[in-house]
Amino acid sequence: MTIKAIIFDAYGTLYDVQSVARATEDAFPGRGEYITQVWRLKQLEYTWLRSVMGRYQDFRAVTRESLQYTLGTLGVEVDPAVFDGIVDAYNTLSPYPEAEQALAALSRYRLAILSNGSPDMLDALVRNSGFDSYLEAVISIDANRAYKPDPRAYELVQERLGVLPEEVLFVSSNGFDVAGAKSFGFKVARIERVSPDALRRELAGGAPIGPATMFRALRMQTEALGYVPDVVVGSLLELPGLIETLGW
Ligand code: 2OP
Repeated sequence: MTIKAIIFDAYGTLYDVQSVARATEDAFPGRGEYITQVWRLKQLEYTWLRSVMGRYQDFRAVTRESLQYTLGTLGVEVDPAVFDGIVDAYNTLSPYPEAEQALAALSRYRLAILSNGSPDMLDALVRNSGFDSYLEAVISIDANRAYKPDPRAYELVQERLGVLPEEVLFVSSNGFDVAGAKSFGFKVARIERVSPDALRRELAGGAPIGPATMFRALRMQTEALGYVPDVVVGSLLELPGLIETLGW
């Protein structure tokens, strides 16, 4: 067995960021989908902009700034309590339906999360979903003040768990994170929540392309950066069998 630890990305991999749509639609009926997609696109964009600018702020701040930007595009005023309520939806994201069963099936490995989320956001999320009992560690990139895909973010796995990059299977559905983790030296499994074929079918024909489709095209495909995952699976539940088949 060469793999000693399986490290999961949080947002989009174990937890469905699209589940904030309940809060955004409640607050802004008819614009929930638009807000949900632009907010998430901007949230990650701001992590990268702040990195390049050398102006780190934690993910809670970035999550607030990106929501402020998004609501600004609509030109709407929002009550501060409503704004806080939408941001808090990140503490109670729905886990993907198969996530808990997959964590249980992988319990012979050391399991942890490595996420952009700030420690307080991740603590709330993991506690609210009950996943704390499966995880040895919940590692926030905040410890090194460097967002994924900066190598300093991935270095935290070795710092916290004492495992070498080649002893780690990193699991993510986010294209940029898959590329970053592979470039860093982890074995990488990509959870393909939207296949290229499914996306192509969605884009075929002349119908208008909505914000959710744009999101699937921009953030849920393999990036063309030259760092591709070792394996691609459609569900977290495929991981135990796959690890065995590959002799990892
Ligand atoms: C996470 O770090 C990539 O946002 C994603 O959880």
